[in-house]
Amino acid sequence: MSRFDEVIERRGTNAVKWDGLKAVFGREDVLPMWVADMDFKAPDVVIDAIKQSADHGVYGYTAVPDSTREAIVNWMKHRHEWAIKKEWLLFNHGVVPSIGAAVEALTEPGDAVIVQPPVYNPFFDMIERNGRTLVYNELLLQDGHYRMDFVDLENKMVEKQAKMMVLCSPHNPGGRVWTAEELAQTASLCEKHGVILVSDEIHSDLTRAPHKHVPVSSLSASYADFTITLVAPSKTFNLAGLQASALIVPDKAIRTKLQTLFARQGQFTLNQMGIAGMEAAYRYGHDWLEEVLDYIHENIQLVKEFTDEHIPALSVMKPEGSYLVWVDCRKLGLSDKELLDLFLEHGVALGNGAKYGPGGEGFMRINVACPRSAVAETMERMKRAVESL
Ligand SMILES: Cc1ncc(COP(=O)(O)O)c(C=O)c1O
Repeated sequence: MSRFDEVIERRGTNAVKWDGLKAVFGREDVLPMWVADMDFKAPDVVIDAIKQSADHGVYGYTAVPDSTREAIVNWMKHRHEWAIKKEWLLFNHGVVPSIGAAVEALTEPGDAVIVQPPVYNPFFDMIERNGRTLVYNELLLQDGHYRMDFVDLENKMVEKQAKMMVLCSPHNPGGRVWTAEELAQTASLCEKHGVILVSDEIHSDLTRAPHKHVPVSSLSASYADFTITLVAPSKTFNLAGLQASALIVPDKAIRTKLQTLFARQGQFTLNQMGIAGMEAAYRYGHDWLEEVLDYIHENIQLVKEFTDEHIPALSVMKPEGSYLVWVDCRKLGLSDKELLDLFLEHGVALGNGAKYGPGGEGFMRINVACPRSAVAETMERMKRAVESL
């Protein structure tokens, strides 16, 4: 029995994954396997740090202390072999808001910004809502794996005169942990064509041997001049509700532009629990992370083996990183709405692949960061759903 087997009631806790079911799917009697957070308790070290902060009882204005910066610097060094400097760090309440900030601060209305669909859909929103032009460099699906199309990428950079690229590394929903070679090729194209690279590395800690995340900015001193790396303890330690994340920005001119934007928005710090949780997680969360990664790995195995054996019409793309499993349902020949409804009718709320943009149609995303009993039940329900056709 693992501690992650515990089924924790999350209904009634303002958890969007559970309490948002009715609003999003129109029904509540389903297993929520959509939003990317974990149904596990955060590490005890984080809970203790937050309790200590809460018990103090004075919740006045905060400043992110040097000790939090040090905790992030050490985490990057030990987990990702990347020597960053404390002064490169900026803070924001989320990675998505940081993408929006980068778009706003570093490009002009109408500028082309490249993304690689199928990809985490708020990327599209941050670009379009800021009045920039969304440009797709679609991933190639080869032998059940996503690859980057570098010829198309360079063409798009040139044709559209792209000013920025938002990279998802590791990739959600495809689960690719990009190799150093793929990342170097991407960054070299950005360098050649004067494209600012925003690298969303929120899933970077959720990798397990043999896969290893490489921060693209760490690959060359020159890449650091035009790269903004976005990290957070939110996926890693299940702290999304604390709303604390960091931007790693080695280049001073880029940093100043971002700071100017944050100042214009009146945004200078993080909330008290976010600071306490983030520092404790990065400082003391390593062992918990290894444990949760092993558990998630077993859940992924379960999904893969069950599907191969019992639902052969579906094809599971085993993620190299993160806890999101991308399932190819195209053989069923259903539209995206029909697919979503089919699984809903059989009691499972999944992430609808079409919303991740071109290439996502006919896929569903399952979040397996939950007790194994829920994963097993999900698979049984999905089997019944497919058998009902
Ligand atoms: C690639 C990616 N970026 C960002 C986020 C969300 O980041 P935040 O909650 O910090 O805005 C997610 C959440 O699923 C994600 O998958």
